[in-house]
Amino acid sequence: MLWLLLACAEPETLVDSDPVLEEDSFCADAPVVRWANFGQGFITGSCQGCHASTTPDRHEAPEGVTFDTLDQVWAQKDMILLTSTGESPAMPPNGGVHEDDRVRLEWWLRCSPTGT
Ligand code: HEC
Repeated sequence: MLWLLLACAEPETLVDSDPVLEEDSFCADAPVVRWANFGQGFITGSCQGCHASTTPDRHEAPEGVTFDTLDQVWAQKDMILLTSTGESPAMPPNGGVHEDDRVRLEWWLRCSPTGT
């Protein structure tokens, strides 16, 4: 009797562990993109001109939207993805970010473990 129950349970387990999410396929082929090998340089070069706490001219970037540290970036990752990736990114306001870097940004914030 017991073996029958176990046999029945197995296919269900397989179904449960096989979620076909868009996120998974996007991240399946993603290279290793992290703060250390991309993020820090990108945020410094493309965003901190206005979004660092120490910048001489924030160009009216909102007070709370500051990217000095990895923790601050991760805390605002959804907003960063929203404003800086996709079809018509709003940030930086004057553009100038290469399309490849926008894809890297997306790989980084969507696929790498939180806070890395
Ligand atoms: C030239 C200055 C400048 C640069 C460079 C810049 N920003 Fe901004 N950012 C602003 C200003 C001004 C605002 C407020 C106005 C707005 O939301 O459009 C803002 C707002 C934001 C917001 C908040 C949006 C909201 O709706 O509250 C986010 C998130 C953001 N920027 C992310 C970024 C990221 C990520 C980068 C780098 C890829 C970046 N910004 C580069 C000036 C800048």
